[in-house]
Amino acid sequence: MAGDSLTAPEQISTAESSDFLADVIAGLSNDPRMLPCKYFYDERGAALFQKICELPEYYITRTEIDILDRNRAEIASQIGANVELIGLGTGAGTKTCILIEALQDPAGYIPVDISEKQLRESTALFQKIFPNLEILPVCADYLQPVTLPSPRRKAARNVVYFPGSTIGNFEPKEAVEFLRRIANVCHRDGGLLIGVDLKKDQHVLEAAYNDGAGVTAQFNLNLLDRLTRELGADFDLDQWRHRAIYSSSAGRIEMYLISEIDQFVHLDEHKFHFRRGEKIITEYSYKYAPEEFAALARTAGFEFVRTWTDDARLFGVFYFSCSSESSG
Ligand code: AVI
Repeated sequence: MAGDSLTAPEQISTAESSDFLADVIAGLSNDPRMLPCKYFYDERGAALFQKICELPEYYITRTEIDILDRNRAEIASQIGANVELIGLGTGAGTKTCILIEALQDPAGYIPVDISEKQLRESTALFQKIFPNLEILPVCADYLQPVTLPSPRRKAARNVVYFPGSTIGNFEPKEAVEFLRRIANVCHRDGGLLIGVDLKKDQHVLEAAYNDGAGVTAQFNLNLLDRLTRELGADFDLDQWRHRAIYSSSAGRIEMYLISEIDQFVHLDEHKFHFRRGEKIITEYSYKYAPEEFAALARTAGFEFVRTWTDDARLFGVFYFSCSSESSG
């Protein structure tokens, strides 16, 4: 599939290609004020996110791993033999490793990740574990157009793997746009294996994003610290507080930074006034009922095949086949 490309809607851009400063000024000037969640992941942010994944309250990571582990044989047989597996943002690769171990003679593995360090480390590890698998790492932001290499062996189909419920960080309209672009890469008969966090009790959700050890608070506040370190803003972190709430009407966790006092913050030529209690939205994390997510994927050109979940139905691993050859 040389030349295949994964493209994203215009409004989704990256720290590399877009103007960080311009995005921040636009976001802080907006009503309501917001900062794009893609800016969480500098080196410190990525390390804090790793810690979040291990928190007792953050059930997402361990539940998804457990679902994969328990159902690996079924998932692999659904995906079929001789596939080209394209992993999007698969990070350290714990989940992908479980998947590849179960797959029947995959033709190749193409991990796409923005973090070069993580990509190098996971590729080295995968080459050791799977010495006969052709691995073609691509260091890129999969939200941007990316041209993917082809494995030497011709695959029966392309299957995209998108774990971690990262799809929940897109607004539903953007999620459809993004899935459409994935459908472009899958082609007819290809597939999509995707991890999606499910709707559940509000207390369970809010605890996952307001953990007792305060790691999510550090992760959220690190964004302001980044603006101070990298853009020269004068945020006083002691005057800001993290909070996450679940909006059942919107079906999403809303993560905020709340101003503790009436204050001014300077950035570039701008002076922003924040009232006491005023919020900056830093992240939405949408949660889906299984049928809601299947409908969303259908709009993007996928056909629901099946889902695997845990006993408490906290998380879903969905498999879709690509029903249409998108014109791009
Ligand atoms: C990356 N993403 C799926 C995480 C989530 O749960 O929405 C990011 C996160 N934010 C706070 N905790 C974790």
